Amino acid sequence: TRHARRPARGLRFTPVAPNTADAVTVPAGHEQNVVIRWGDPVLRGAPAFDADRQSAKAQAGQFGYNNDYMAVLDLPGERDRQLLVINHEYTDEVLMFAGYDADNPTRTQAEIGLQAHGLTVLVAQEERRSGRLTAVPRHHLNRRITGTTPFEVTGPAAGSDLLKTAADPEGTRILGTLNNCGGGITPWGTVLSGEENFNQYFANGDEVTDPKIAERLKRYGIKGGASERKWERFDRRFDVAKEPNETNRFGWVVEIDPFDPDSTPRKLTALGRFKHEAAEPRLTPDGRPVLYMGDDEKFDYFYKFVSAKRMKRGNSAAAREHNRTLLDEGTLYVAKFTGDSPAGEIDGSGKLPEDGEFDGHGEWIPLATGTTSHVPGMTAEEVYVFTRMAADKVGATKMDRPEDVEPSPRTGKVYVALTNNSDRGKDGKAAADEANPRNGNKHGQILELTERRNDPAAGRFTWNLFLVCGDPEDPSTYFGGFPKDQVSPISCPDNITFDVHGNLWISTDGNALGSHDGLFGVATTGSRRGQVRQFLTVPTGAETCGPIVQERRVLVAVQHPGEVDGATVEQPASHWPDGPGKLVRPSVISVWRKDGDDIGV
Ligand code: FEO
Ligand code: CA
Ligand code: CA
Ligand code: CA
Repeated sequence: TRHARRPARGLRFTPVAPNTADAVTVPAGHEQNVVIRWGDPVLRGAPAFDADRQSAKAQAGQFGYNNDYMAVLDLPGERDRQLLVINHEYTDEVLMFAGYDADNPTRTQAEIGLQAHGLTVLVAQEERRSGRLTAVPRHHLNRRITGTTPFEVTGPAAGSDLLKTAADPEGTRILGTLNNCGGGITPWGTVLSGEENFNQYFANGDEVTDPKIAERLKRYGIKGGASERKWERFDRRFDVAKEPNETNRFGWVVEIDPFDPDSTPRKLTALGRFKHEAAEPRLTPDGRPVLYMGDDEKFDYFYKFVSAKRMKRGNSAAAREHNRTLLDEGTLYVAKFTGDSPAGEIDGSGKLPEDGEFDGHGEWIPLATGTTSHVPGMTAEEVYVFTRMAADKVGATKMDRPEDVEPSPRTGKVYVALTNNSDRGKDGKAAADEANPRNGNKHGQILELTERRNDPAAGRFTWNLFLVCGDPEDPSTYFGGFPKDQVSPISCPDNITFDVHGNLWISTDGNALGSHDGLFGVATTGSRRGQVRQFLTVPTGAETCGPIVQERRVLVAVQHPGEVDGATVEQPASHWPDGPGKLVRPSVISVWRKDGDDIGV
């Protein structure tokens, strides 16, 4: 029978049981090492980490905090080395600084925090005969991009009045990137990174009196009063009352060229402004890039961008110059999902409809093309800068927090992680629909989207839910049709990636089943489709991020270990990775098989 079959190739390991150990737990026969920790030196001249003598200058050359998305690129000409690009989403000051006073942060703490955000470009060394990976500090390609690094604004909203501030009267140059969450690698070798919960850095949104501006701030979650980190006390641009347009300069997808440490990173306005989770590309049959992007907020939307231009192959200066403009011109769309089962069969319980699947068709609604708006009552600039409001007007489908997205390199099907939505079905909120079929959705789902004729530029698609997550004993769960007594429980899918065998790997954030978060693999095709198997768990308080599954190793960014209500440096909830008496430190780890064989074969 199906039960007796071996798991899919790439997923043949003994699944890790759900647990709450303050450790990274890996399958029997596997080993792990820490590749790099928060504070480890990255750039030439950066000092070793010293918890008691932190400074903004030191942090500017050291690995940032809260590693999230990771991109790994080949490094031609350097044997056994890889180039990693790693996002640093946000900071946990209370776990970074002894005696931290949240009401009275110091200027030094604020400045360290800004430098601990952004991205790191890091060369890493592979060990022969194992999957161990170690950082190569001081490599000439290593780079830190932080909360103060200058960015060039490109695309149709560059220079817009909506982006102008006292410090940047042209609206074309922005200092820093913040809350970099997921991302993507382009086919031309650059890395994309989404600015997600940027609203939290801004203060005094309630002091704005212009009702139009107030409505925009509200739609983007900019609040009144002091911000959590109180950076506005040290840098006026974070005070909305003083600089209302600064908020419009965050919430973009940024593009960096990791092979050119002197290049100016860019904010891409053609991709719209929202809480960008990730941006994952495909190419159309005629060579134009398409990006899929989620807005990670309860009841927000799923988007795509189709470039007007074809990519040029090769690494010539002319090709590079051309390709750096590919994401500046095109059409931005938002998704509308329509179910094929009678609405009455979708009762919010997660019970499968009579046709046996949550599925249907959908359309991509255009929002803007270049300088032309497709949304009545909004200019193109307004569509790009206030994209959420444009999507509200055209009747896009309100989703259960679109997190990461990943097109299958084998089939072209696009997988969308919808992490959870505790407010689904509440009074005044959207009720369950076929794509978001559970009210009070605690565990999330993964949607599988198939473009018409498998053309990424298509205007229409079909879709179905691949996984409806949770405890397999919970009748509202669905595992691609696989027998549920043969799967690992999974909750709150977030970052997703594919391995070389075509299996989808899913990392979780916020596991609501009592176990720590973890990393899971699942076959998407064949007789094992839906057989979820857990590969690892992360320490107390941590989220599993940035998974990269290579033939010989699995890389995971362990984000916010020890982040538990009330935890401090003095009263830590986790001792990972260095044990008692040391600061808990977000870190990247590598996992491999002790016998030297490939993962899961
Ligand atoms: Fe930063 Fe939506 O996770
Ligand atoms: Ca159906
Ligand atoms: Ca995420
Ligand atoms: Ca998350």
